[in-house]
Amino acid sequence: MSVEKLPSSFMDTTLPLFSGLPHRVADLSPDTVRFGRKEIDLALIEMPGLVSICEEYNGAKPLAGAKIMGSLHMTIQTAVLIETLVELGADVRWVSCNIYSTQDHAASATVAGPTGSAEAPAGVPVYAWKGETLAEYWWCTMQALVWPDATGPNLILDDGGDATLLIHLGVEYERSGTIPAVDSTDNGELKIILNLLHQVRAEKGDGFWQALSKDIRGVSEETTTGVHRLYERSQDNSLLFPAINVNDSVTKSKFDNVYGCRHSLVDAIMRATDVLISGKKAMVLGFGDVGKGSAQSLRGQFARVSVTEIDPICALQACMMGYDVVRIDDAVDQFDIFVTATGNKDIISAAHMAKMKHNAIVCNIGHFDNEIDMAGMEALRETGEVEKIEIKPQVHEWRFTNTTHGPKGGGHSVIILAEGRLVNLGCATGHPSLVMSASFTNQTIAQIELHKNAESYGVNRVHDTTAAVPQVITLPKHLDEKVARLHLQKFTADLTQLSDEQASYIGVKAEGPYKPEHYRY
Ligand SMILES: NC(=O)c1ccc[n+]([C@@H]2O[C@H](COP(=O)([O-])OP(=O)(O)OC[C@H]3O[C@@H](n4cnc5c(N)ncnc54)[C@H](O)[C@@H]3O)[C@@H](O)[C@H]2O)c1
Repeated sequence: MSVEKLPSSFMDTTLPLFSGLPHRVADLSPDTVRFGRKEIDLALIEMPGLVSICEEYNGAKPLAGAKIMGSLHMTIQTAVLIETLVELGADVRWVSCNIYSTQDHAASATVAGPTGSAEAPAGVPVYAWKGETLAEYWWCTMQALVWPDATGPNLILDDGGDATLLIHLGVEYERSGTIPAVDSTDNGELKIILNLLHQVRAEKGDGFWQALSKDIRGVSEETTTGVHRLYERSQDNSLLFPAINVNDSVTKSKFDNVYGCRHSLVDAIMRATDVLISGKKAMVLGFGDVGKGSAQSLRGQFARVSVTEIDPICALQACMMGYDVVRIDDAVDQFDIFVTATGNKDIISAAHMAKMKHNAIVCNIGHFDNEIDMAGMEALRETGEVEKIEIKPQVHEWRFTNTTHGPKGGGHSVIILAEGRLVNLGCATGHPSLVMSASFTNQTIAQIELHKNAESYGVNRVHDTTAAVPQVITLPKHLDEKVARLHLQKFTADLTQLSDEQASYIGVKAEGPYKPEHYRY
């Protein structure tokens, strides 16, 4: 394709792929910016970990020289994280990691910045708005990856691994010389990514991705699903730079995944449907950290909760907590609410939904939209077997046209929330600030560690294919304990001080760490 014949926009976005736009948000009006700033100010009081890190550095800039590209839900809490990274000296660009999770006032206030305004933005380039199309989503990711001088980031802060994925695919296909044809896959999102890679090659030639990513020194990854992908890349020797697994800091996964979901799951179901949860039968599919928080959330509303699991240990934990452990195939017609929390795919099929009670609520709190078979439902829509009716954005009735149960003896519906994507971020505002403060304090510590010491975990392999595969590490336990300590003040909790004699009796130091690495909490 010659440069003259290039499409002016990326797919249906009406936006050039290399737009040079300083930011792109839904609404940069003074009222929206003011609302966002007010909520950021409120959140700050609930985010003592991030505030303490800034106080600890006391004006020093440990992130000076860091160019951080962030791909993580653009919420109010994330705005506080972004402004913390900037305060610590970083040059930051940002996108959401989900098409529905942006809080538009948070995005606007972040663009305006603490010292700027709607008219004279002085904050961070954010490319995110609630309700992006998937093509717009990947367009946004590209904008945040490319700095105005056409260079790339030197650090990535990722949630779910999309930024990491795009860079790795770009480099991989450049090295092999072949980008698969768009039609080589049935996966709609992969088609968009391939489209993007083809367009990048057409506009910028064959060295673009290697040049853009040659200075990336590491990535810190927020969530279980993204971390799985990193370990896979480490095992198949394709990881290009070191990574910090933030998810498996205890003060992340055992707090955010559990207690965050405990707060935000029923918040989302209630905002979306206003349906009484008490007394209803709810099925939580997957009883890991997110499943545990989700089950507690529903039980807190006095739902009758059952769990599905593949892992006998998690299933036994569920039994001990008083939940029934069932199989979806045996009980799909008996439940009112279904919540997937596995991080796996193909958990609730279209065939399952065809058997559900009329107006059963179906939602997902895992990372991607393939736990619920949304592709299968779309296929049924195309054949006329299902009708999709929008109740409001992110809340849809899917009416089966051929089933023999339903309001008038046929044609039952299911209510699918957030199009099968993260319900707590699509239909509510995600986890509360205090929980996110712990997660994001780990993220900030991880970014500082990478900026200081990335090369002790491996080198960037974009141009050095012979270098050893970089490590995926977790933060040391004393930092986990530090993150917890920073948040105890919020609860006016008084820690007991270990005496030296007691410390030596249990084999630890009086100042910690207090547990061996293998301890599971
Ligand atoms: N919505 C949020 O705010 C939020 C927060 C954190 C993590 N997440 C995401 O939630 C997902 C789960 O994370 P986690 O930390 O709980 O992971 P986890 O590994 O602790 O738990 C997942 C559980 O699902 C079970 N499982 C897997 N396949 C199954 C199947 N076919 N049927 C039943 N159970 C099955 C596993 O045995 C495991 O116990 C991930 O995608 C993660 O990225 C979402």
